Amino acid sequence: TQSLSQMLLLAGKKVLVTAGPTYEAIDPVRYIGNHSSGKMGFKLADELANLGAEVTLISGPSQQETENKSITRINITSAEEMLEQCLTYFPDVRICVMNAAVADFTPKTVSDQKIKKQDVSLTIELKPTVDILQTLGAQKKHNQILVGFALETNDGEQYALDKLQRKNLDLIVLNSLADAGAGFKTDTNKVTMIDKQLRKTETGLKSKTEVAADICQKIIELL
Ligand code: CTP
Ligand code: CA
Repeated sequence: TQSLSQMLLLAGKKVLVTAGPTYEAIDPVRYIGNHSSGKMGFKLADELANLGAEVTLISGPSQQETENKSITRINITSAEEMLEQCLTYFPDVRICVMNAAVADFTPKTVSDQKIKKQDVSLTIELKPTVDILQTLGAQKKHNQILVGFALETNDGEQYALDKLQRKNLDLIVLNSLADAGAGFKTDTNKVTMIDKQLRKTETGLKSKTEVAADICQKIIELL
């Protein structure tokens, strides 16, 4: 539950949230994906909307539903489609929270017919996708707040700091897969937030809703 003063803190502010995985097509029946469930991103969208923000949620394939009816949801499939939608919405928002697990690589060519299994082996050539967050960071205006995530298995803080700086972020939220109770499909999470002044906040293990509320609190501090 939020107090009235908190509820008003993001009133009228436009916010962009991305969530879920992207799927990169191999042929008409197959794709390369990842384990993102979208849970954390959908909780973030709900928390931000509950604080009065005007939220647009760009989501990859996910079973999740938002609770707050004011959220505008845009469904995409691939990293390229996510980039296109982000470039459309980003210039007009005050805050952007890039939680999606965007594919880093996509097939160089997509077969328009189903690939048959007759061959003894199959090599799929991949090319890098555009780093959406870095692209947005490069075009960020002074009053915009850009929040990124880092998913790491090891040396988390070091990699997160590097991403914070390289992508010109205001805040990075580190998810460590090494932490028990944290991860893709769980209802709990534990994150470390590092802002651009290198102030560090740890949430401790709690529900994804509570972690989302902590991240919103931190974003409000940065406004
Ligand atoms: N991201 C993005 N576009 C991509 C890849 C990642 O916008 N093509 C964003 C993610 O949404 C996330 C942040 O970049 O907010 C960090 O993602 P992560 O996978 O942890 O880092 P990468 O920079 O992709 O590096 P690596 O996967 O090698 O750790
Ligand atoms: Ca990545």
